[in-house]
Amino acid sequence: MCGICAYKTKENAVKFAVESLKILEYRGYDSCGISFLKNGEIETVKSLIDIDDLKKKTENKTSNLVIGHTRWATHGGVTLKNAHPHLSSSNKIALVHNGIIENYKTLKENLNCAFQSETDSEVLVNLIESEKGSLIEKVISASKKVEGTFAIAVIENGELVVGKRESPLYVAYFDGGVVATSDISAFVGNVKEFYILNDNEFASLNENKIEFFNENGEKIKKNAEILPKITQNFKIFDKTHMESEIKETKIVLKNTLKEYLNSSVFSDLNLPKNIKEINLIACGTAFHSALMGAEFFKEQGINSHTYVASEFRYGREILNKNALYIFVSQSGETADTIACAKLLKEKKMHLLALTNTPNCVLNRICENVLPTFAGKEFAVASTKAYCCQVFVLFIFSLFLSQKLQDNIDELIKFTNEFQIQDFDKDLLNKISSFQKIFFVGREKDYITALEASLKLKEISYINSIAIPAGELKHGTLALVDENTLVIAISTEKNVREKLLSNLEEIRARGGEVVLVSNFSCKDYIKIPLQAMHENFMPIVSIIPLQFFALRMCEKLGYNPDKPKNLAKSVTVE
Ligand code: G6P
Repeated sequence: MCGICAYKTKENAVKFAVESLKILEYRGYDSCGISFLKNGEIETVKSLIDIDDLKKKTENKTSNLVIGHTRWATHGGVTLKNAHPHLSSSNKIALVHNGIIENYKTLKENLNCAFQSETDSEVLVNLIESEKGSLIEKVISASKKVEGTFAIAVIENGELVVGKRESPLYVAYFDGGVVATSDISAFVGNVKEFYILNDNEFASLNENKIEFFNENGEKIKKNAEILPKITQNFKIFDKTHMESEIKETKIVLKNTLKEYLNSSVFSDLNLPKNIKEINLIACGTAFHSALMGAEFFKEQGINSHTYVASEFRYGREILNKNALYIFVSQSGETADTIACAKLLKEKKMHLLALTNTPNCVLNRICENVLPTFAGKEFAVASTKAYCCQVFVLFIFSLFLSQKLQDNIDELIKFTNEFQIQDFDKDLLNKISSFQKIFFVGREKDYITALEASLKLKEISYINSIAIPAGELKHGTLALVDENTLVIAISTEKNVREKLLSNLEEIRARGGEVVLVSNFSCKDYIKIPLQAMHENFMPIVSIIPLQFFALRMCEKLGYNPDKPKNLAKSVTVE
């Protein structure tokens, strides 16, 4: 994963690079660093703390040529030596890298130099040094020997070269010079237009001239794209991004509905006629909203399956030319999801991207796009974007079955009346010492259980599992004892009684049960939910459970916005 940036400017570029890294921090925050040219030599500053620490360390540094990196460790632990930028053994070339060099061990064996780190990226910078010609020639010829993925920025003798395969990279002019970053939102300075580098394309960046090259080293022309203005006028400011983002859910659902009712999102779609099958592919939280979406489609008589992207890619699925394939992704950048989209594009399937990020890679691959209007999400654990994905999938299922018009009043009523519900403080104190936590539910409530369990694991590091309540007796019940907390979600009317029987089986084994439900029930500790139409209950019920994860995380003294070992955008396989 990781985020990279590079600046060549008339004035000091150090502050620009650090500012970009702050925006790119969502791509990994194990370490960060910059290299810059000072009096003909490369100077490097790194931090194992965070970008603010890097900022302090570089306050007095000045340079017109800087590359920067924020890391999510893949090869080698979180140490200063493994932190980027990496220098070639002669210290003449510095490189930042996002991606994975799969054949780095073989390349390393053939390079006759001393290595300082355990990273694949240090192999790449030395491989570049071992090639002949100008910097751009060396980078292009080295890339031919590399198997794997990369977005790189490389400096040598005042020159700056960038290139990419699979990992994203964008370049632009701005009033102060030129810039390259992993994400267009990380352009600092007044950028109006930008260029998208395609796979195996490279660029040589000079203060006022960017030259593009293909993999054969031939110059190519590229067209600029207009930089979209992303304005977010609904930001709620709370002490953490996660808390703000959960609280923003009501506003962003309203915004999303407004956009879908007033704009041409649906009329712009080019869908297969009479869709009988929809397959959804996603990772993480987006996979859970995809599962929910499949339930909505099935309710409308459309056969629907959901796949984890990393499994689908190498699986044996039989493709259907008449089906619609939906890729759900907050970022639109997740490597596994993108790989599936590319694969199915080659096979000429009908594709639709459901994303929260305008101009993202997935949107460019898929012929159809359904945006969620959740606004930027900063916290690693996705909350408001999840709710928007579920909401849009529900709206889309109504659209496909031509029931949208009849349900507009119901949708508006929901967004007006829906209330954000925090987790009860007293109850939290009562149950926070449980170390074994199960989330159970049936049908759509089971999907909510999966998402609630993931949230808890992600930010509080408490091991929890989610299981369909009816499945408990087939094994997992063996784990239930007086040290077990079972959080049961019950919003599905037709399986309500069945679920209550399952809870009795838990109680009989000494387990503590908390029931999250909009139905009345005096037998258990209850988190009462606002009663809404059944299809909105997945959104209503997940909110207190997102808060449960957040409050547990806070109680344990962790930072919910930056959970250990994770990153918001996973751009490696
Ligand atoms: C990472 C994040 C998750 C996210 C998943 C998919 O694992 O930590 O919060 O759900 O990626 O991300 P996407 O951007 O594709 O929705």
